[in-house]
Parts: sequence; structure tokens; C-alpha cells
Amino acid sequence: MAESPLAETAVAQPAIGMGEDLVEVKNLKVHFPIRRGLIIERTLGWVHAVDGISFTIKKGETLGLVGESGCGKTTTGRAIMQLEKPTAGEVLFEGRDLVTMPKEDLRQNRRRIQMIFQDPFASLDPRMTVGGIISEPLEIHQLLNPKEREEKVRELLRIVGLNPYFVNRYPHEFSGGQRQRIGVARSLVLDPEFIVCDEPISALDVSIQAQLINLLEELQDQFGLTYLFIAHDLAVVRHISSRIAVMYVGKIMELADRNELYDLPLHPYTKALLSAVPIPDPVIEKQRHRIIMQGDVPNPANPPSGCRFHTRCPFAKPECSEDEPPLEEVRPNHFVACFFWKEISERTAPPLAVN
Ligand SMILES: Nc1ncnc2c1ncn2[C@@H]1O[C@H](COP(=O)(O)OP(=O)(O)O)[C@@H](O)[C@H]1O
Ligand code: SF4
Ligand SMILES: [Mg+2]
Repeated sequence: MAESPLAETAVAQPAIGMGEDLVEVKNLKVHFPIRRGLIIERTLGWVHAVDGISFTIKKGETLGLVGESGCGKTTTGRAIMQLEKPTAGEVLFEGRDLVTMPKEDLRQNRRRIQMIFQDPFASLDPRMTVGGIISEPLEIHQLLNPKEREEKVRELLRIVGLNPYFVNRYPHEFSGGQRQRIGVARSLVLDPEFIVCDEPISALDVSIQAQLINLLEELQDQFGLTYLFIAHDLAVVRHISSRIAVMYVGKIMELADRNELYDLPLHPYTKALLSAVPIPDPVIEKQRHRIIMQGDVPNPANPPSGCRFHTRCPFAKPECSEDEPPLEEVRPNHFVACFFWKEISERTAPPLAVN
């Protein structure tokens, strides 16, 4: 196919993100085998859940990771934590690769990386008391004596805004928001530096979502935490993220500073996701240019050729299904993977800020 029309503006692929990096993901791939057969198992194909992504997360920042359901966000988080074995690529934590690190070193480093899960109902063991749930990681790592553990649990309950006397209660005695606070307390018990927050507010009532976001922000300030914050819609990550990566069928489509991404989205997929976010002002809402996607997210077992978005992109040209657009820095710290971002942006009305 012809050379990208943006070739003159594109620069060589630089390291994404600046400053001191805590996490560096390089060309990460996670493919799951599709197996059939009871006696003799055969691999029929592969689910390309994560298919060659690179980004960095700086110390103390929140990187938002956004995309529709099934795009590979959870798998990315799990692969960073080594809960999923990467098929290829590196996950550097303070410059050391977790993928190839000796087991004992990995065990030590795992303490410093924690995860908050999407579903506060499913992620807490209903048979354990709140105290047992929060202190379990301390037992696994054989840290502190029983009295110290109990003190730590009470302290953490206070920190996440729960009454320390709840320590002997069971998860079913709490509301969704309170359970998620218990999950947050558990994630803090080993004094981590980095937390993967996997859609932590998606299962909560809208009325309490902001409270949990505020809590996570306070904890970030108090303990100097770094977050990867996963969400399926762009409205949720706006407040908490410093930078945002937009993911589609295992690939990063756009990555930019938070305000830049909302004020100047360049990838048609990002524009489409933003079109779904309502603007409270009815006049602006009526005037704005919406980009509507057709169909559903393609099956990652059989991803579209070339640009993975071509089957749903209203601007796709024949060449989009032949070659894959690389993720290139087209403005300072603004990366986009689309051959035609420039002409599309000129054709569509300037995007309007979302409050
Ligand atoms: N253990 C697994 N085995 C096979 N396929 C999986 C597994 N985990 C996730 N997938 C598939 O990988 C794709 C990405 O899933 P996931 O990372 O959960 O996406 P997201 O979090 O963005 O919704 C989906 O098609 C999902 O069905
Ligand atoms: S490369 Fe083509 S199909 Fe992909 S987002 Fe750009 S215009 Fe759409
Ligand atoms: Mg998920």
C-alpha cells in the first residue's frame, strides 16, 4: 500500500511517557489457546487478547486504560501482575523484567503490585471475616505477629472509611460500596507501590462511584501510589487519570495526556467512545458531531486484518484492511494508530469538551 499520508509528521517510535517510570510494558502479548477434544486435546486457534502493546506508567501517576468489553484490558492488568503468563514481551518493574525474573524475586516483587477487582461481591470470600480477608496476604507472606496483624487491619479499615469494629463481620453484611472498600483495604495491606484497579466502580451504584474514586485519589496522595485504572467508558477515567490509553481488540489505538485526549481526540475509535459520553449542556449536545460505530467488537480469535478498527470505522478506506497502522507520536506525547487521523480530524467538526 502507499506510504502513510502522515509519514512526514511521524517520528521514530519513542519511549511513551516521560519522567521516572515504575512500570514499562514492551510489546506485550497474551494469546489464549482454543482447545478441543477430551482424550487428545488439540489447539484449534488462539484468542489474541493482548496483541503487542507498549506503554509506561510513571511513579505516582494514574494511567487510564479504556476500551469496550472484550478488548483485553483485564488481561493486560493480569499479565502485568504475572497472573497471566505473557506469550511474548516484557513487563519491567523498576527496570527489572517480571516475566523472566527468578521465582523468589517475583514473589518479593508481587507484594508491591496489587489488584482491585471489578466485582466486590465475587472477589471477597463469603466464609471469611473482614479481618481474615484483609490480613490473609500478611499470613501468606508470613509478615507480622497476630496482634500486629489485627492492629494493621483496624488501621486499614479506618483509612478506607470503615468502622474498625467491623473486623469480625462477614462480607454479606455490607453494601457494594463497603465491600469495595474492604477490597481496597486488602490491596493495601502489603504496602504496595502499584495497584491495578480493574473497573473498581463499574458494579457500584452511580451515587457512590464518586466516593470510591475520591478514596482512591486520597490513598494515592497519602501513600504515593501508582495506578493503572481500567474502565470501559471515557467518562469514568477522566477525573482520575493523568494519561489515558485507548485499547481495541488487543491493541493500543491512542495514548495521550488526559486533557489532550478529551479536547483533541484523533483516533476515530476514541472519537466514537467520546460520542457516547453525554454532554450536560443541551445546546452543545445537539450541535456536536457524533461518530457512531457499526456492529460489535470483533472476536479476538479472528481479529480483522490491517487496522483492527476497519470493520466498524466510518472512515475506512480499502488500504485500511491491508496494512496495520503503527502507533506513532503525532503531537508531543500524543500517540495515535490511524493512517488518516489528520484528514479525518479536518473533516469532522472540532471536538467539544466534555464536562
Ligand atoms: N483465560 C482465558 N481463556 C480464553 N480466552 C480468554 C481468557 N481470558 C480472557 N479471554 C478472552 O480474551 C479477550 C479479552 O478479555 P478481557 O481481557 O477480559 O477483556 P476486557 O477486560 O477488556 O473486557 C476476550 O475475548 C475474552 O473472552
Ligand atoms: S486506519 Fe483506517 S480503519 Fe483504521 S481507524 Fe484509521 S481510517 Fe479507520
Ligand atoms: Mg475486564
